[in-house]
Amino acid sequence: MTVVLGIETSCDETGVGIVADGILLGDALATSMDEHARFGGVVPEIAARAHLHAITPMVDHALHQAGIGFADIGAVAATAGPGLATAVQVGLAAGKAYALSLGVPLYGVHHLAGHAAVDVLEHGPLPARCVALIVSGGHTSLLLIGDLARDPVVHLGDTVDDAAGEAFDKVARLLGLPYPGGPVIDRIARDGDPNAIRFPRPMTGPQDPPYRFSFSGLKTAVARHVEQHTGPLPVADVAASFQEAVADTLTRKALAACRDHQVDTLLLVGGVAANSRVRALAEQRCANAGIHLRVPSPRLCTDNGAMIAAVGDLLVRADVPPDRLDLSPDPSAVLRGALLGGPGDGRQATGASGTFV
Ligand code: KG4
Ligand code: ZN
Repeated sequence: MTVVLGIETSCDETGVGIVADGILLGDALATSMDEHARFGGVVPEIAARAHLHAITPMVDHALHQAGIGFADIGAVAATAGPGLATAVQVGLAAGKAYALSLGVPLYGVHHLAGHAAVDVLEHGPLPARCVALIVSGGHTSLLLIGDLARDPVVHLGDTVDDAAGEAFDKVARLLGLPYPGGPVIDRIARDGDPNAIRFPRPMTGPQDPPYRFSFSGLKTAVARHVEQHTGPLPVADVAASFQEAVADTLTRKALAACRDHQVDTLLLVGGVAANSRVRALAEQRCANAGIHLRVPSPRLCTDNGAMIAAVGDLLVRADVPPDRLDLSPDPSAVLRGALLGGPGDGRQATGASGTFV
């Protein structure tokens, strides 16, 4: 059994996780969210500096929680992209340093593969085939996933403009709510009427691409509504109606993808999968359609270290050759597979621990 240390630093969370054989042994999370709030969004240089301060304490914390020491670590996995360039750089450099000093292999993994892999820690191995809806602050994608460690990921459709989480963050800003907007809108929407305003369900017409998303028009529709409204704005109703439009659009398309591809499992992951209405509507629609829904606990939906350790664990157990220690980060890496370049990208080391060249 190999114990994998996972490091996540793609945005404003410094996450460390320790996983072996599909079991989460320990994890620790630090966030620089408060430092960004006054700017209304993440400032990359502030995030990178915060990662630098937090990374070693978080590793120590996770090891302590797992009740193990450095000598027990058998492999290191670190996010190599996508994400904020300087932020990814810090975590990947730390991952290389730990791998080199411990003499263990390094895996530079794709952040979005982590969002999908984390579900294994709570709900066991993934089925042979599933549809995954990854909804985060930077991405919104409908995917066909097979063996995450070995098979290429098939993109059924992605967003053509804003990601779902980005829409939550921008709409929150419009409503005068703090960053990050998703959790705040989720909370405020509980007191609102989701049918108060009929916001558009973007790209759901009969002629529209069935699995692609677009959220910038919805954001504009909310902006128009706010501009044109006279009197005190019913913020809870706007939040609930916006959230309903997002939840309806996401789940409608995800269910269609499962049906069209004869897949009986939907994996709902990423920060927006923490949203209570998205979860409830997905549960209801999957139950009606006889589709098995897998969603991680909210704390594992948003960025964390366990998700990266979970990918590393899948790669180790699948005997996938590790990366070389001169691996470069790719801030805009497209998801092709668990490793940054996707399966068989010819970039991996042949030896166990890789070497600098
Ligand atoms: O996956 P994640 O932690 O980071 C990225 O990889 O981007 O996702 C962060 C996004 C943010 O846009 C945040 O507003 C959104 O997920 N989010 C939520 C909720 N919690 C986080 N959106 C809606 N409802 C939530 N409860
Ligand atoms: Zn993420």
